[in-house]
Amino acid sequence: MTTVVCPGSFDPVTLGHLDIFRRAAELFDDVIVCVVANPNKQGTFTISERKALIDEVCADIPGVRVDSFYGLLVDYCREQGATAVIKGLRDSTDYDYELPMAHMNRSIAEIDTVFLPTRSDLSFVSSSLCREVTRLGGDVSHLLPGPVATALKERLG
Ligand code: PNS
Repeated sequence: MTTVVCPGSFDPVTLGHLDIFRRAAELFDDVIVCVVANPNKQGTFTISERKALIDEVCADIPGVRVDSFYGLLVDYCREQGATAVIKGLRDSTDYDYELPMAHMNRSIAEIDTVFLPTRSDLSFVSSSLCREVTRLGGDVSHLLPGPVATALKERLG
């Protein structure tokens, strides 16, 4: 059985993330979507709210489970027996941001990173842009899973 971890802030989870989770579940037996807590960031949703939203929208994807974690990602991977980290790549900016982390995780713990290209029609979508547009009165509900769109409008709209 191959266990992999899809880590991220997911504040909140978007359709782009969800597509990566689905595709990871087609490639690997056991996919853990892990909300990684950043103590320096306040966040729009709490870690448990983000996890609950991901639980709800991943309920129909076999082989995906959801968790949260605070600390070093490779420690979490080891605890879970995960052999790789899965990340979506939207563009070269993501690549530049992700590559040093991938090398570091490989260097300190021999945990590899598998990059999946984000679906091209969702490659402009980010949690931060969805929050900004919603806060300013715009509609991004077509870019978010239904329960997430509702929760974001309630929180910021
Ligand atoms: O969704 P994000 O904010 O781009 O996710 C980044 C995240 C949470 C995956 C990354 O910051 C991370 O792995 N944090 C855990 C702490 C850690 O292991 N830091 C060393 C990375 S080499």
